[in-house]
Formats: sequence, C-alpha cells, structure tokens
Amino acid sequence: MSEELKTELNRRNFLAAAAALTCGCALSCPFAMGKDEEMDDDDDDAVPPVKTGPVDVGALADFSKDGPSEKWIKDQHMIVVRDGGKLYAITAICTHKQALLKIKDNQVYCSKHSSRFNYSGQPVPKPNGKLGPAKKPLTYFTISVDDKKHVIVDTSKPIDAAKAGDAGAFVKIA
Ligand code: FES
Repeated sequence: MSEELKTELNRRNFLAAAAALTCGCALSCPFAMGKDEEMDDDDDDAVPPVKTGPVDVGALADFSKDGPSEKWIKDQHMIVVRDGGKLYAITAICTHKQALLKIKDNQVYCSKHSSRFNYSGQPVPKPNGKLGPAKKPLTYFTISVDDKKHVIVDTSKPIDAAKAGDAGAFVKIA
C-alpha cells in the first residue's frame, strides 16, 4: 500500500470517528460506519404506544360542527369525527406501517408514505389517482355518552370498520 493511500485512509478514519463523537451516537451511526446511505424509513419514527381505555373527549354539546378533531391524535392516537348526524372515533395509526396520521387537505393523511383516508376511515386515492400504500380502512373505537352528557371513547375496544354502522361505533348527534 502506498504512503499516499495510507494517509488518505487514516484521514477518512479520523473524519468518521470525529463525526461519530460530534453527534454522540453509537456504532450504528452511518457516520461511524463511514456510510452515507439514508436510514431505513421503516425504523426511524416508530410511534410510541399510548395507554388504552376509556377517554372523556368532552361534552356532547362541544361537538357542534361537522369535521374532525385533531386534539387527541398525539396523546390518544385517535381522531374524533362529527359527520352526518353521527359522532365517532377512528384510529390515528396508519394501516400500512403504523405511522401517526394527521389532518391535511380535508383528509386523514399519512406523512410517511402519503396514504390518504376520508373522514370515515376509508382509504382514498392520492391526487395522482393512485391508492395506497395503505389499503385497509381505519379501525373505529367504541363510543358512548355518559350520564353527564360527556362523550367517552374506549380505545381498548376497537371496532372493525366494516361494523361502523353498528351500535357502539357511533353516537347520534341532534
Ligand atoms: S405508514 Fe402510512 S402509508 Fe405507509
């Protein structure tokens, strides 16, 4: 090995080690390994689990307008929707690779791979006309109104989207 090549390799090792120290990462760091490829997008933003069970999402009277509420997406992984005289709650976890969903352009949107759902939780095509990659509908949660007229969503009791019209999957709104 030539002296010139040895010097170049030592310089690269030094730079990789310096980068690893600077970012404070372990050996899995692409800098530490001397790699520059992108991280696997399936592993870099896993959604931490949340505690499941009954959640008081507020007074029934508070849901006075049609549309989704984003208020419980982060803490409860759910979206409460008022639509067509019904109030219901759907999961805010994508059915493709479990990324957290959000509301965008009047749809439920997955920023990980751009899947879209309507407010009933059904997958809908992207603006380019293609469906997916999420093709399964979003799960509903059991919902009820207690004796104080508060809406209770039980995130430990999912309901398959095919049963969205069944008792327990929605409450009627006057
Ligand atoms: S995780 Fe939502 S589309 Fe892939």
